[in-house]
Amino acid sequence: MNQQELTKELNSYIANIGVGYIKLHNLHWNVVGSQFKAVHEYLESLYDAFADVLDETAELLKINGEQPVASLKGYLAIATIKELDDAAVDQKKALEITLADLELLRDQALKIRKAANEHDCFSAANLMEDHIENYAKQIWFLRSMLA
Ligand SMILES: [Fe+2]
Repeated sequence: MNQQELTKELNSYIANIGVGYIKLHNLHWNVVGSQFKAVHEYLESLYDAFADVLDETAELLKINGEQPVASLKGYLAIATIKELDDAAVDQKKALEITLADLELLRDQALKIRKAANEHDCFSAANLMEDHIENYAKQIWFLRSMLA
């Protein structure tokens, strides 16, 4: 992955976080089931963290003189995370959807970290390491909730 491709991958990651931020709200509002309150509140903790991830990743590109994708139209054009319909979602399904999206983001962050290391982009590599650590923890939470 060259420098240009690294920027492109970071923008794809930003787009996925942007779409994921709304998708987590969708699930937060539309989840149904006996564990509604726990799942509803857990999803809120995730989208709050996504807001910080979105900001710090976009600012990383700005700091390096690159242009981060910064519109909903732009996010939807390149995101690989798929949006949901506006409808009720069973709690187990909501957790499975969230787990799959966090695994996708973890894999993307791993890919970016590897490329950033190859280009001595320490700030990008460090940022991705922080994110990867958090995805690992949330993936453990989700797998435990689904067990
Ligand atoms: Fe809320």
